[in-house]
Amino acid sequence: KAKSRKAYVCTECGSESAKWQGQCPDCKAWNTFKEVNLGPAASPSIGATNKSGFAGTLSGLQTLNEVDVAEAPRFSSGTSEFDRVLGGGFVKGSAVLIGGHPGAGKSTILLQVLCHVAQSMNALYVSGEESLQQIAARAKRLGLPTDRLKMLAETSAENIVAVAEQEKPGIIVIDSIQVMYMNGVDAAPGGVAQVKESAAFLTRYAKQTGTVLLLVGHVTKDNSLAGPMTLSHIIDTQIMLGNTDDSRFRVMRATKNRFGQVNELGIFAMTERGMKEVKNPSAIFLSRTPEPTSGSIISVLWEGTRPLLVEIQALVVDSQLGNPRRVTVGLDQNRLAMLLAILTRHGGIFTSDQDVFLNVVGGVKVTETSADLASLLAVVSSLRDSALPQDLFAFGEVGLAGEIRPVANGQERLIEAAKHGFRRAIVPTANKPRKPIEGLTVVGVHKLSEALEAI
Ligand code: TYD
Ligand code: MG
Repeated sequence: KAKSRKAYVCTECGSESAKWQGQCPDCKAWNTFKEVNLGPAASPSIGATNKSGFAGTLSGLQTLNEVDVAEAPRFSSGTSEFDRVLGGGFVKGSAVLIGGHPGAGKSTILLQVLCHVAQSMNALYVSGEESLQQIAARAKRLGLPTDRLKMLAETSAENIVAVAEQEKPGIIVIDSIQVMYMNGVDAAPGGVAQVKESAAFLTRYAKQTGTVLLLVGHVTKDNSLAGPMTLSHIIDTQIMLGNTDDSRFRVMRATKNRFGQVNELGIFAMTERGMKEVKNPSAIFLSRTPEPTSGSIISVLWEGTRPLLVEIQALVVDSQLGNPRRVTVGLDQNRLAMLLAILTRHGGIFTSDQDVFLNVVGGVKVTETSADLASLLAVVSSLRDSALPQDLFAFGEVGLAGEIRPVANGQERLIEAAKHGFRRAIVPTANKPRKPIEGLTVVGVHKLSEALEAI
């Protein structure tokens, strides 16, 4: 019989160590190692092989070109926004963690997805938090098909696997992983050790049987999921469901994905009929005041595979401080500092005695350089207290020599903005369209000074 393992586990991050340590080598927290009895190295008993975690078949050596490169089999979640974030649907045998603050809509979206998927395969929804009555009432209110989905109220990972071995579902939701526990582990439920061991146990089951495993994880105030590093190396895909400034909308984004890109955004609206996907979300963050205001301009970001229109706001005011403030929301602060230096050197505009605040409206986070030009134009507009035209937008990277560099997908960005009624654009010359776009006047610029002249 397998012997039980004793280990020291960091209560902050779940890092494991054979001996006690004063400081955790992973998360650097002090005095967080607690002795935990982890039970026998638990592995579901399916298939009898695969005890070592080796997922392939014993096919012997192959050269790289002999390896079968067929794509992992996938199936749809039933919502194209979710599929997009997953990288094209669920991958069989993968473990997906869905994180978000309480109330983000994790349970709602997963219930919708499972009711849909259950129409074509065995599906199991395990709830450790809400009662089955609550969930059934919600499903009924949302008008979901409820006749096929199997429900289980359970918090023991071993019991869940025992049920799954009988039912053989193709997909399992665990809502939430934070309330799951393993009998063999003598740490308190909810603690990092329990969460980690349960997740590892369920994930091994999923891998061995080709089941899709969806783990719900609540995020704490500091945006960590039950200890930051606990689960991220166990699971294949981590998806965060976040709120936006507009309380109706939810943004879904993969922060880790072994089976796809991590920069795809999925956008949903929380309605009284559940989570509805927003199919054409490029302009949902635009809700400007009708009269022009200084310091505001539209830019077009590229999120994954599609454009997203955002408003960038700057506020520039006389600084009372020796060291003026550079504050950004949704944009890298160092990037703003760099842009302001370029503005001084290559635009002749000084901000060294000014506090500069920059905000990307709607809670959007800019992760690319295409918002550089618009950011600087917003700063100049605020500094001069002179509003830019409402129908103007700009994008482009600004280089250290004051050059305006082209960005990817310029054509698509221009077309999308034109579709939403914008009539004037300032963009890198190389992004100027070869064929004119109807109703849109495009000014191409090489240098920052040309862009400043254009406004
Ligand atoms: P829920 O899915 O329970 O969030 P989570 O599982 O992430 O904690 O969503 C709860 C919130 O969503 C709650 O504030 C009520 C709201 N909601 C709606 O607005 N419409 C709906 O149809 C449903 C089911 C919930
Ligand atoms: Mg929930």
